[in-house]
Amino acid sequence: ATEETLVLVKPDGVARGLTGAILARIEAKGYSLVDLKLVEPSRDLLARHYAEHEGKPFYEPLLEFMLSGPVVAIRVAGNRVIEGFRSLAGTTDPTTAAPGTIRGDLGRDWGVAVQQNLVHGSDSPESAERELAIWFA
Ligand code: CMP
Repeated sequence: ATEETLVLVKPDGVARGLTGAILARIEAKGYSLVDLKLVEPSRDLLARHYAEHEGKPFYEPLLEFMLSGPVVAIRVAGNRVIEGFRSLAGTTDPTTAAPGTIRGDLGRDWGVAVQQNLVHGSDSPESAERELAIWFA
C-alpha cells in the first residue's frame, strides 16, 4: 500500500554535497518527494526524534553530530516506501553496508563515536507517523 516515510539527509550528507545524489536514488526508485526542507534542528527536536536511544552510549555523540550542521528533511511517499527506503539506505554501519546502497556506496567510517551514515529512514509505520509529525509539524 502507499505509505509515507521520513528521510533525513544527515549533516555529513549535506556537508559532503551528497543531497542531490541521495534524492536522485529516491526518485529513480520511483518514490515521490511530497515535502522537503533544509532544517537546523534544535536539541529539543532531536531529543524527541531519538527518544528511544536515550541512555545508549552513542546518544550524546549522536545529538552532537546531528547539531553539527543543517539537515535535509524529506517526506517521501510510495508503495512500501518505509521498508524500501531502508533497503536503499543499507545497514547502519557504512563499512559493511552492501555496495549498491546509499551507505555502502557513499558512506565513510570516520572512526568516531557515532556512525555518520548519511541518512535516516523511519523503521515502521508507527515511527514514520511519529517522526513526520515532529519534522513537519
Ligand atoms: P539511525 O538509524 O538513523 O538512528 C540512530 C543512529 O544512531 C543511527 O542512525 C546511527 O547514526 C547511530 N548509531 C546507531 N547504532 C550505533 C552504534 N552502535 N554506534 C554508533 N552509532 C550508532
